[in-house]
Amino acid sequence: SYEGDEITRSPVVTVMGHVDHGKTSLLDYIRRAKVATGEAGGITQHIGAYHVEDDHGGVTFLDTPGHAAFTAMRARGAKATDVVVLVVAADDGVMPQTIEAIEHSKAAGVPMVVAVNKIDKQGADPDRVKNELSQHGVISEEWGGDTQFVHVSAKSGDGIEGLLESIQLVSEVLELKAVPEAPGKGVVVESRLDKGRGPVATVLVQNGTLKKGDIVLAGLHYGRVRALINELGQQVDDAGPAMPVEIQGLDGTPEAGDDFMVLDDEKKAREVANFR
Ligand code: GTP
Ligand code: NA
Ligand code: MG
Repeated sequence: SYEGDEITRSPVVTVMGHVDHGKTSLLDYIRRAKVATGEAGGITQHIGAYHVEDDHGGVTFLDTPGHAAFTAMRARGAKATDVVVLVVAADDGVMPQTIEAIEHSKAAGVPMVVAVNKIDKQGADPDRVKNELSQHGVISEEWGGDTQFVHVSAKSGDGIEGLLESIQLVSEVLELKAVPEAPGKGVVVESRLDKGRGPVATVLVQNGTLKKGDIVLAGLHYGRVRALINELGQQVDDAGPAMPVEIQGLDGTPEAGDDFMVLDDEKKAREVANFR
């Protein structure tokens, strides 16, 4: 067993909600406002997840295509998400996929923060959203429930600081811990075959630190990590707890939701990969 100092790790957040309610816009706004700080010009997204650090602490956003990925990961027994942000457009209210998202997060036992989005729009009615959500068991703190509601606009950025604060408050209660000195392990977020670089996988480190040169077993595949690329497209030497990173060097493309772990030697990794 491994001994090392435990630290508080950043929460990992998945944004869910009905089609067109503003999930991508919200993620884009936060990425532009936080990840790109100090970067010249706009940034293009390199991997399907990103990490932000600000006064409230760190947060990792999984930029997955919502429900499908969340469900696929859960079906594989992966618990990659600590907090769900449920986006509900204030001019549209609760819709079928809103209800689906509520069911997914409840089934997974993941706490939710409600982002009532598009409050800048004419016809925005956040009280209606509050009312409709209460009929689905999502009750705001103001009404004696345990869910934080934040009014936001992914267009103007209004309320987004408050949303990040709420995410931190909810995650503090979860007391998320990790041991950075341990060998890296976590979950595969997505993977693909790149023409030039071969199999690339975006992984989320959940405990320990993943380093360049590590032997990794990921689902049915293994290999030595040849390069780690962060959300800015930069090569990094390692990735610690709650950090998403794209890795190269696997012998194939693992599935979203597969676990990954660092092993001592390549022979063992190959044996386990073949046995699976
Ligand atoms: P899907 O991924 O297709 O389910 O949609 P989504 O939830 O990611 O929504 P998306 O971010 O694509 O936004 C849908 C539309 O709403 C786009 O035209 C956005 O520009 C617009 N939109 C998103 N957020 C806001 C907002 O806060 N205010 C206003 N006025 N428009 C918004
Ligand atoms: Na859309
Ligand atoms: Mg979208």
